[in-house]
Amino acid sequence: MASISIVFLVLSINIVAGRAQPNQPSIIRLNTSLTHPTSWPSPSNRFAFGFHPQGSGFAVGIWLVVMDSITVVWTANRDDPPVTSKASLDFTKDGKLVLRTEQGPEKVIASGAKVPASYAAMLDSGNFVLYDNDSKIIWQSFDTPTDTILQNQTLLAGAELASSLNESDHSTGRFHLRMQTDGNLVSYPGNSGDAASDAYWNTGTSGSLLNPDNFLFDLYLNSTGGLNLVNHSNSATVYTLNDKYLFSSGDINTNPSNDKNTIYRATLDVDGIFRLYSHIYNENSNDRVYLLLSTLKNPCYVYGFCGFNSFCTLNVDQSNCRCLPGHDFVDPNRRTLGCERNFSEAGCTGGKGNAAFYYISTMENMVWGDIPYSDEIMSKENCSSSCLDDCNCDAALFDGNSCQKQKFPLRYLRKSKNTAFLKVGSIPKKPRLPIASDTVVITSKTAMLQIVLETLGFTVLSCVALAIFGRFIFKIRVLRYQRLLKKGNLGLPEEVTLRLFTYAELKRATNSFKEELGKGSFGAVYKGALNKGKKLVAVKRLEKLVEEGEREFRAEMRAIGRTHHRNLVRLLGFCAEDSKRLLVYEYMSNGSLADLLFGVTLHPDWTERLRIALDVARGILYLHEECDAPIIHCDIKPQNILMDDCWNAKISDFGLAKFLMPDQTRTFTGARGTRGYVAPEWHKNIPISVKADVYSYGIVLLEIVCCRKNIDVNASTAEEIVLSSWAYKCFAARDLYKLVIGEELDTMSLEKMVKVGLWCIQEEPALRPSMKSVVLMLEGITEVPVPPCPTTPSM
Ligand SMILES: *[C@@H]1O[C@H](CO)[C@@H](O)[C@H](O)[C@H]1NC(C)=O
Ligand SMILES: *[C@@H]1O[C@H](CO)[C@@H](O)[C@H](O)[C@H]1NC(C)=O
Ligand SMILES: *[C@@H]1O[C@H](CO)[C@@H](O)[C@H](O)[C@H]1NC(C)=O
Ligand SMILES: *[C@@H]1O[C@H](CO)[C@@H](O)[C@H](O)[C@H]1NC(C)=O
Ligand SMILES: *[C@@H]1O[C@H](CO)[C@@H](O)[C@H](O)[C@H]1NC(C)=O
Ligand SMILES: *[C@@H]1O[C@H](CO)[C@@H](O)[C@H](O)[C@H]1NC(C)=O
Ligand SMILES: *[C@@H]1O[C@H](CO)[C@@H](O)[C@H](O)[C@H]1NC(C)=O
Ligand SMILES: *[C@@H]1O[C@H](CO)[C@@H](O)[C@H](O)[C@H]1NC(C)=O
Repeated sequence: MASISIVFLVLSINIVAGRAQPNQPSIIRLNTSLTHPTSWPSPSNRFAFGFHPQGSGFAVGIWLVVMDSITVVWTANRDDPPVTSKASLDFTKDGKLVLRTEQGPEKVIASGAKVPASYAAMLDSGNFVLYDNDSKIIWQSFDTPTDTILQNQTLLAGAELASSLNESDHSTGRFHLRMQTDGNLVSYPGNSGDAASDAYWNTGTSGSLLNPDNFLFDLYLNSTGGLNLVNHSNSATVYTLNDKYLFSSGDINTNPSNDKNTIYRATLDVDGIFRLYSHIYNENSNDRVYLLLSTLKNPCYVYGFCGFNSFCTLNVDQSNCRCLPGHDFVDPNRRTLGCERNFSEAGCTGGKGNAAFYYISTMENMVWGDIPYSDEIMSKENCSSSCLDDCNCDAALFDGNSCQKQKFPLRYLRKSKNTAFLKVGSIPKKPRLPIASDTVVITSKTAMLQIVLETLGFTVLSCVALAIFGRFIFKIRVLRYQRLLKKGNLGLPEEVTLRLFTYAELKRATNSFKEELGKGSFGAVYKGALNKGKKLVAVKRLEKLVEEGEREFRAEMRAIGRTHHRNLVRLLGFCAEDSKRLLVYEYMSNGSLADLLFGVTLHPDWTERLRIALDVARGILYLHEECDAPIIHCDIKPQNILMDDCWNAKISDFGLAKFLMPDQTRTFTGARGTRGYVAPEWHKNIPISVKADVYSYGIVLLEIVCCRKNIDVNASTAEEIVLSSWAYKCFAARDLYKLVIGEELDTMSLEKMVKVGLWCIQEEPALRPSMKSVVLMLEGITEVPVPPCPTTPSM
C-alpha cells in the first residue's frame, strides 16, 4: 500500500515539473477552444500547441519549451498576417479546427483533413494529430513541416523545408532545402528558380536519370538523432549526414543516444544553414541545447545571404554584409537586403563613349554568380580597360586568363581567387527628382519640332517626356495656342484634328450618360452616338482630377490628339467647360483584352494571342519612341487594351497619367497604376522611366500566354497564385506546358513569349529590354537570351 502511494507521488511530481515520461496522450475533445496565453501541452509538457508570438502579434503553432524560452517548430498558415491576442482557436462541435479573429473570416488550421475529426492530441513527439471516430489519423502536423523536422519525422521525396524570416517571425524566409526526387538534398535561395547554379549546398546523392525511381529518397531524423537519407521504397538508410557535417566544438558527446530525455530537431535556420540540435532535459532543470551538425560552417557560403551587389565578410564569428564600392545599402537597418549604386549612370549609345564618367575599383579574391555576357581571353590590364570602355559593362572578373564582363546587379558574391574590376561612377546619384508640373524643359529635338509646328499654325505638345540620359523625366510644355483654340477646329484634315464639343452636345450624344461601358481610373465611360446616330463613340468623363487650367488641359489633349497609330485608340475630341472634362474616343465594339482573356467565353487561339501581344507591343513602342515626345503610359493592363471591329488590339488611356497627380506634391507616387501590373520602382525612391511600362507589358504578355490573371487567388496550388513567379518556376523547371495545359501550340513560340515576358518583369529596370527590343524579339528578328530570375533572391 505504501509503495503504491510513493509511486503515485513520484508520478505526480514529475507531471508538475514537466519531467514525466511519455504517457497517455491528453485528449482534446470537440467543442473546446483556446486563446492566448493558454495552450494544449503534450503529456510531458515539452511541446505545446497554441498561440506563439509572430512578428507584432501571434500565430498558431507548435513549440518546444526549453527552460524559460520557447523554440517554434511548426506554424500553421505561416504566411498569414499575425493575429491579435483576442483571436481564438476553436475545435468545433462538427470536428473542425478553426482560427477565429475579430475581423475577417475564420480560417481552417488542419486543411486537408477529409472527414470531421472526433478528437485531437498533442503528442510527446511534437506531432499534433487529429483522429476520426475510429481513432485513425486524419491529419498531422508532421505531414506539413515548415522549417523543422523532429525525431521520427520524415521529409518526403519532393518536399521541402523553408527557413523562417527571422527569429521572431516564422513566415517563409529567404532559403529552402529540397529533398529532390533525384535523390539529392539541396539548399537554394528562395525565388532563385532552383537551377543547379543556384544551389549552395547539397549531399551529392542524386541518382541516374535512367532509373530515377531507385533514387527516390526521404530525409528521416531517427529516434537516436541520426539524420539519414532513406530509400523511399524500403526505408533502408542510404546516406548518413551526421558523420559528414559534424559540428566538432562544444562539450557534448555527439554519439547519438536514445535517451528519453533528449529531443532531436533539425532546422533550416534563418541564415540558410541546415543544423541538427539536441535538447537535453535534466532532472535538475538544467536543460541544455547542443548543436550536433551544421551543413555549412558559416553563412558567407550561403548564396544570397547577402543581397544584390554586396558580399559577406566574417568578423569575429559574425557574418556581415558589405556593399561593393560605389554602392550603399538599400536599407541600412537590414543589411542582408543588398545594395544599390550611389552614382548616376552615364548613357550608353552605340556601345561606347562614357569612360569619362567612371573609374575602375579593383577587388582581389572575388567571384559571383550568373553567366557573363562576354567572356574573352585577354590580359589583366586589358580586362580592366575593356570594361571601362564598354558602356554595357558594369563589372568584370579576371580569372588569370579570361575576362568575364557583366551587368549589375551582381549576386552570390563570395571569396575566390579571381580579380574583380568594378566600374564606379564619378557623378553622385541625385535625389529623386520630383516631376514638377511647371518645369519647362525643351530638348533640342522638340525645340526644332516646335518651330516647325508653330509655322504650320499648329500647336502644342505637352506630354510626359523622357530624357533617357540619367533617366530623369522632363515635361515639355509649350505655351502658344489660345488664338487657335477658340475655333474648335484647327483647320487640318479630319483625321488629325480634334473636335471641341460642348457639354450639351455630349449629353445629347450619350442620351444623358445613360449607357455606361465601364469605369476606369479616371472615371466612367459612356456609349454615345454622333452624326445623327451614325457614328458610335465612347465618352469618358474625367473625375478625381488634379485641378488643371483649361488651357493646359486643352494642350494635353492636343498632344494626345497628335498620336496616330493603328494600335492606339483614337481621341476624336474633348469638352472642357467650367470644371467639366470629357474625352471623346472612337468606339471599340469588341470590349477589352481583359474580357477576351479572362471572360467565360472561348479564349482566342494561340496565333491570335501572338498577334495581340505584338499589337500591344507596337502600340507601346510608338508611345515610347515614335511619337513626337515620348509618353509613359503608366497604367498598361488588359482593361486598358481594347479590341476594335476587326479584333485589332488598341491601347487606351495613354497620356492621361499626369492628370492623376495629387495636387499637393505634384510628384509621381505609388498611387498610380494598378496593383499586379505596377513596376517595383513605383514603391521605391527611383525615377520612373519607360521601363515601368515595359514591366507592365511583361505582366500582360504572361497573361496573354496563359489566359489568366497575374494574381489568381483561386489557383489550384499556392505557387500558382502569382503568375509571374509561377511562370518563372515553370520556365526554370522546363515545364512550360504547365502554363497552357490542354492547348495545342508551338512550343518554340511559347518559350519565346515566356522568355520575353520574364525579361520585361525584371525587378531591376536596367535589365528590362526596350520596347524596340521586345518587338524585335517577338517578331523573331533577334534571339531571346535566357532570362534570370525576375526578383531579387534575397527579398
Ligand atoms: C459546448 O460548450 C459550451 C460551453 O463550453 C456548452 O455550453 C455547450 O453546451 C457545449 N455544446 C455541446 C454540444 O457539447
Ligand atoms: C520514435 O519512434 C520510436 C520507434 O517507433 C519510439 O520508440 C519512440 O518513442 C519515438 N520517439 C518519440 C519522441 O516519439
Ligand atoms: C464514424 O462516423 C461515420 C460517419 O462519419 C459513421 O458511418 C461510422 O459508423 C462511425 N463509426 C463509429 C465507430 O462510430
Ligand atoms: C523580423 O522581420 C519583421 C518583418 O520584416 C520585422 O518587422 C522585425 O523587426 C524582424 N525582427 C527581427 C528580430 O529582426
Ligand atoms: C531502393 O529500393 C528499391 C526497392 O527495394 C531498390 O530497387 C532500389 O535499388 C533502391 N535504391 C537504392 C539507390 O538503393
Ligand atoms: C539512427 O541513424 C544512425 C545513423 O545512420 C544509426 O547509426 C542508428 O542506428 C539509427 N538509430 C536507429 C534507432 O535506427
Ligand atoms: C558612394 O559609396 C562609396 C563607398 O562605396 C562612398 O565612398 C561614397 O562617398 C558614396 N557616395 C555618395 C554620394 O554617397
Ligand atoms: C591589350 O590591348 C592592346 C590594345 O587593344 C593590344 O594591342 C594588346 O595586344 C592587348 N594585350 C593583350 C595581352 O591582350
